[in-house]
Amino acid sequence: MEIDIDFSHASSWNQEMPERTRWLREHAPVYWSEKTQAFILSRYDDVVFASKNHDLFCSGEGVLPGRMNAKIGMIDEDEPHHGEMRSLINRGFTPRMVRRWEEVFKRLTDETLDKIAAKGECDFVEDVAVPIPLILIAEMIGIRKEDRLRFHQWSDAMIGAQGNLDNPVITAAAGKAALEYYTYLVDIIADRRQNPKEDLISILVRAKEDGVLVQHEAGRYRDDMGADAGVETTDEQRAMSNDELIKMCVLLLVAGNETTRNGLSGAMQLLIENPDVQKRLAGNPALIPGAIEEMLRLTSPVLSFARTATRDTALHGVPIAKGQKVLMVYGSANRDERAFENPDVLDIDRNPHHLAFGIGNHFCMGANLARMELRVALTEILRRLPDMRYATGGPEFGSSALVRSVKHMHVRFTPERAA
Ligand code: HEM
Repeated sequence: MEIDIDFSHASSWNQEMPERTRWLREHAPVYWSEKTQAFILSRYDDVVFASKNHDLFCSGEGVLPGRMNAKIGMIDEDEPHHGEMRSLINRGFTPRMVRRWEEVFKRLTDETLDKIAAKGECDFVEDVAVPIPLILIAEMIGIRKEDRLRFHQWSDAMIGAQGNLDNPVITAAAGKAALEYYTYLVDIIADRRQNPKEDLISILVRAKEDGVLVQHEAGRYRDDMGADAGVETTDEQRAMSNDELIKMCVLLLVAGNETTRNGLSGAMQLLIENPDVQKRLAGNPALIPGAIEEMLRLTSPVLSFARTATRDTALHGVPIAKGQKVLMVYGSANRDERAFENPDVLDIDRNPHHLAFGIGNHFCMGANLARMELRVALTEILRRLPDMRYATGGPEFGSSALVRSVKHMHVRFTPERAA
């Protein structure tokens, strides 16, 4: 087994990865990968350390593996700007908002299951895991119903480029999709200024007009101009904050969609492969939230994110120079024998402190939303289709360097009889 592979390339995330990361945890927890041009962090404690010490390991030089210098919004901003943006966008993710979206999500889940329940079989990914998080995030952003298909295509094209930057066809499609999505959002933002609704864009437009973004940007502008220029907010700066708003919507689309889709497919895969657990949860839905945490630990839908050293330092005696990258492999940290007993076993009573949502100041902002989506979807699936099993040999995996991508999973179940 080769150890130095390019961790930022989609093709590297194959069946050998668990064995490779086990070896790294044991023998080289801070491993310089020449092909990735980054130190690979594979142990739980080290991923926690790099995530929590954001003064030493920053996000501002890019967090995506492979395109490590590309900036995609709040996720690769440092303090204090990051905290300001986060508190702004948090308005859309408060417990009250998540409860409101829960009703919408329950309806979307019911409608989606209605389409397949009588058939007795489906492709779980295409028919269940893809549409429900996608439609929810579309509704949250405020995408019109008739534009959902386009939204789906943009999302797939943009995500597809990650880990495939050497493929000109894929990257060109991603660029085209980003441009179309951007243009579309400009129209929606203009519309919500005139006709505010309950969606995220309306909340963010309002927040902007309350002055949060503008104040921040005026501050930045002043910094750029040098000290105490006392600059008034100008139209030009207002236009800049429009850009930030759009960036946030792109980030939400990318961050909230494929992650939850693969979280749900991965959870269903684990249930099918552990029928005793499937039965136990169907009989006792109160256990589902705890089981979800354990399933997130084992599947780790996001593969890795990067940080950059802000000064010379060392980890486990390995010197790391200012400017060098570290890549935090969440799936490996979540199976670290030092943090979890029998790490490869699904134990729904474990109540694990996993790192699937990261940790520290960039902890996933959508974690509560994702947990709600997984809980509602699995509760409904186990209630209506409790004996789901593979129709063919099991899941087919896609190629991605960002998420654990399940492409297809053909399943069978006892058809639901019409009420
Ligand atoms: C199972 C589903 C999900 C997983 C596994 C996941 C995973 C992650 C991880 C690991 C991070 C940390 C990034 C870092 O430390 O650099 C993150 C950040 C983030 N996630 Fe999620 N995520 C999920 C769902 C969502 C959803 C549904 C949304 C929103 C709709 C979302 C929005 C975000 C945002 C905005 C950030 C950046 C937070 C910041 O920089 O402060 N995520 N996510």
